[in-house]
Amino acid sequence: MADILTTPRITILDDPARAAAEEISALLDETPSAVLGLATGGTMIPVYRRIAEGCAASRMSLARTTTFNLDEYVGLPPRHRQSYHHFMTEHLVNQSDMNPARMHLPDGAAPDPDAEAARYEAMIARQGPIDLQLLGIGANGHIGFNEPGSPGDSRTRVVELTARTRRDNARYFAPGEPVPTHAITMGIATILAARRIVLLATGSGKAQAIASLLEGVPRSDCPASFLLRHRQVHLLLDPAAASLIRR
Ligand code: GLP
Repeated sequence: MADILTTPRITILDDPARAAAEEISALLDETPSAVLGLATGGTMIPVYRRIAEGCAASRMSLARTTTFNLDEYVGLPPRHRQSYHHFMTEHLVNQSDMNPARMHLPDGAAPDPDAEAARYEAMIARQGPIDLQLLGIGANGHIGFNEPGSPGDSRTRVVELTARTRRDNARYFAPGEPVPTHAITMGIATILAARRIVLLATGSGKAQAIASLLEGVPRSDCPASFLLRHRQVHLLLDPAAASLIRR
């Protein structure tokens, strides 16, 4: 059967992080117990800062929200400074009224990472669907840690990181500290099961990935292009990230 494809909504603005925080705030106004899918990476830091400001000013609350993060490095326990668990604690839990017991990430230190991936997928299925999934994008078009070659029907699993992603993410590690080789990530199909998806990209380093995503057909070499199969995707881009879009 042919793919049914849609064109994502695209908004280009100087402060896409603010727009993302406002979308989340509007959802929580309507549904305080909404299930959020969250992402890590430098692009998300200003989003979480805005959310923290909203909580501090009592304009928004995460107290009843349940969250599921996209991914975690295999081998890094939650307290490790470069773990995504630590990132979320530092940038969101400690800065807001979020209940840490309702924040979920795969356990990077689980003795059996494959079993952990299956447990995480089952937990999302049980507590989902995710109402709004926040996404960043890798320079190579990855979403979560679904690297080029990831199938559109993939679910949460252990993946090997590409040399490029490990190089890109090395900036978050101490000089000389090894970047993990594997991660547990939600799959493309896990991500597409969310009701709505908001993808944020800033800077010229993401321009090629955004242009490839919009090229027209879902392709494994640009995992983000599978988003064309979802009806409710909103791309929030700054002008640099949007600079190679052809139309
Ligand atoms: C990591 C994460 C992705 C994120 C990407 C971009 O690889 N697994 O979810 O989108 O980094 O990160 P940054 O925003 O730091 O460029």
